[in-house]
Amino acid sequence: MIVLDKITIRFGGLVALDAVSAEFTAAVSGIIGPNGAGKTTTMNLISGFITPTSGKVLVDGDDILRMPPHQRTRWGLRRSFQREQIADDLSVWENVLAITDNLPGSRSDRRTEAEQAIDFAGVGKLRHRLGASLNTYERRLTDLARCFAGRPRLIMLDEPAGGLSPEETDHLGALVVRMARLSDAKVLVIDHDVDLIQRICSETLVLDFGRRIAFGPTREVLNDPAVKAAYLGVEHA
Ligand SMILES: Nc1ncnc2c1ncn2[C@@H]1O[C@H](COP(=O)(O)OP(=O)(O)OP(=O)(O)O)[C@@H](O)[C@H]1O
Ligand SMILES: [Mg+2]
Repeated sequence: MIVLDKITIRFGGLVALDAVSAEFTAAVSGIIGPNGAGKTTTMNLISGFITPTSGKVLVDGDDILRMPPHQRTRWGLRRSFQREQIADDLSVWENVLAITDNLPGSRSDRRTEAEQAIDFAGVGKLRHRLGASLNTYERRLTDLARCFAGRPRLIMLDEPAGGLSPEETDHLGALVVRMARLSDAKVLVIDHDVDLIQRICSETLVLDFGRRIAFGPTREVLNDPAVKAAYLGVEHA
């Protein structure tokens, strides 16, 4: 279970998150909301880029915010970014192997884990290609391999389907569901593609201007009048 407990984050006068609470129990859960709602800020908090003004995050009972950021990777935290972070001058293999540098275990164990992650994401054929030569879809798949490497316990994906075609989005969505099934990890997905969220996330949190406006089973949340109002007239990126 992922518990957000009254998270408040202020940037100067801006309240990016305002006492947001939610308890995610699903294998794959969503966070949606208009631009600037506080979605990425939530992931930045959990991964350690920012500290909250107040509040707690518990994952399976572990107090994530008390761990130094590098320890969070060892613990099992993985994430992808809205602008994916594949190193241009490293091969796909090296990009995935890099994640395992901080993990416990022997060098050969870590290579095996990287290998399994590459197989999982179906990027074996690209293993020698440099990051710079990959298209958006190939980068997103490499991102998924990086998130799957080692023994993830919490995987956070920030707009994994951004810039993908409908077919690519379908395939990526199926991989995300498999990712949760094949690992012990809970997966949190941010996306503007509400159809994708509806297909793959059993629970969803909706943020708007830093406030929780709905949380619960995705289908119910999407029918909530407050959610419809927040989306009304908003053209999604
Ligand atoms: N480090 C920061 N310093 C100051 N303000 C910030 C910082 N990070 C985010 N913000 C502001 O906090 C608010 C929430 O931003 P956030 O990136 O979480 O939005 P988002 O929901 O991910 O939006 P999008 O869909 O556009 O990615 C925005 O008003 C943003 O400008
Ligand atoms: Mg964002």
